[in-house]
Amino acid sequence: MLKIGVLVSGGGTNLQAIIDAIDAGKINGEIVAVVSNRKDAYALERAKKHNIETAWISKKQFVSFDEYEDALIDYFKAKNVGLVIFAGFMVILTSKFADAFKNKIINIHPSLIPSFCGKGFYGLKVHEAALAKGVKVTGATVHFVDSEADTGPIILQKAVEVKEGDTPEILQKRVMEQAEWVIFPEAVRLFAEEKLVVENNIVRRVD
Ligand code: GAR
Repeated sequence: MLKIGVLVSGGGTNLQAIIDAIDAGKINGEIVAVVSNRKDAYALERAKKHNIETAWISKKQFVSFDEYEDALIDYFKAKNVGLVIFAGFMVILTSKFADAFKNKIINIHPSLIPSFCGKGFYGLKVHEAALAKGVKVTGATVHFVDSEADTGPIILQKAVEVKEGDTPEILQKRVMEQAEWVIFPEAVRLFAEEKLVVENNIVRRVD
């Protein structure tokens, strides 16, 4: 069974969607650890409620970013994880981490990449930018993580309508409910069933 390691920073609703999908028997995998860079992330409470091991590993605990990344790599390698998922993880890691788990890291981003992504686009900021641009459709993207922010091969995307009068908070909630919590567990399921192949930076589904 696939061993999954999770990195989080916040509320953990995407983590919850994965936990629920595993509990419902939809994903042939097991979450072996949830690691947060923030000690007070509610995602850690969600993990504890499901008896999942948690850890707080922050760059503040290390003299360099390099050592912080080494600690994360060592932690997940020791747990033999076959997949690392970024479930609302707000730290941009370098190619060191990406290379340690090549094509084995999946991220969820709350826009239709390549719009509103990359450095500085995270959480509510993404929805603020979408509303400021006046786009009529936004959505979410699940992709493999490579050495840059939000540039890796796209696995799944789902579009969501932007409505008159939307605030960033209202739009964020709609994108989560209609897209993120749907495509994130689905992408993890496909990965666990070995149905995703990456060729020339493009993800192909094999059945
Ligand atoms: C989600 O909307 C996720 O897509 C986004 O942060 C939120 C975390 O919510 N991630 C990023 O912006 C990453 N660049 P959650 O903690 O409730 O899953």
